[in-house]
Amino acid sequence: MRAAARAQPNIALVKYWGKRDTERNLPAVGSISITLADLSTTMRVEFDETLAGDSLRVNGQPSDAMLPRVSRCLDAVAGQERSRATVVSESNFPIAAGLASSASAFAALVVAADAAAGTGHGREQLANLAGMASGSAARSIYGGFVELANAGDHVAVATLCAAEDWPLTVVVAITASGPKVVGSTQAMETSRDTSPFYARWVEQQSADLDEARAAIGAQDFPRLAAVAEHNCLKMHSVMWASRPPMVYWNATTLECMEAVRDMQADGIPVFFTIDAGPQLKAVCDPSAAAAVRERLETTAGVEAVMVTGLGEGARLLTDG
Ligand code: DP6
Repeated sequence: MRAAARAQPNIALVKYWGKRDTERNLPAVGSISITLADLSTTMRVEFDETLAGDSLRVNGQPSDAMLPRVSRCLDAVAGQERSRATVVSESNFPIAAGLASSASAFAALVVAADAAAGTGHGREQLANLAGMASGSAARSIYGGFVELANAGDHVAVATLCAAEDWPLTVVVAITASGPKVVGSTQAMETSRDTSPFYARWVEQQSADLDEARAAIGAQDFPRLAAVAEHNCLKMHSVMWASRPPMVYWNATTLECMEAVRDMQADGIPVFFTIDAGPQLKAVCDPSAAAAVRERLETTAGVEAVMVTGLGEGARLLTDG
């Protein structure tokens, strides 16, 4: 009745923004991401029929705020009649700062809960269960370059290209470490309800997905860079044009973007992407990783820089 699992966050290159079914948390658009290697969340789940309720500790602290979401996810995996659980989560990177900590957390949670409860869900089912808790978490079940597609009443998720087949490097520039101002669930609703660009965003997504899939298939870095930056800026345009507007960037985010532009002008193979938070993620060829790291580290306002390769999907830990 006890198991532990580990998963890494993923960074979307073609973004998920908007829901077509809020009840089941189904995305309005498909997405393509890369699963990271070195940032991870470890989840330990123990079901115990003598417990009166679930409990959750995140990085050593009780976390009552996240507990209802975790309990709902455990219900989805193991059924409403399940025993109550003790859940312990540990991440080796700042949580709730636009670094997709919910993706690695829920991906690891469903894998650990499935093993602890002995439910034996398949990988595709685990991805759907993780996605019900947090849309992007479905992608962290898989490693490397991952595509999530809408398929009727569920999502179909698969690896397009393994991490070792195209080993890119991601340099994350931390420009602020506090929690985000508006959570992405709420921000997506505001975008759908108020942004004049939302419908166009949804309409154009399949073209961006086709382009990114082709770029990944051909391992064509400039082609992937162009569509990823375009898709990122388009998503943020949807947010900026919402009422109230949602601007996740700060001045340092823009400084970092300019640094990436300068490096591109110097012929360095690098591009940026930004999620619902102020951090900038620079994706580059491993040969450029040292230069990109140094450039972002010395950009005014950057608090810290993390460097990681691409990694595998969520998995059970045998040391429990
Ligand atoms: C900007 O997966 O956090 O990172 O399903 O409401 O939990 P919920 O949203 P979440 O949204 C991620 C949004 C994004 C883009 C992406 O990862 O595709």
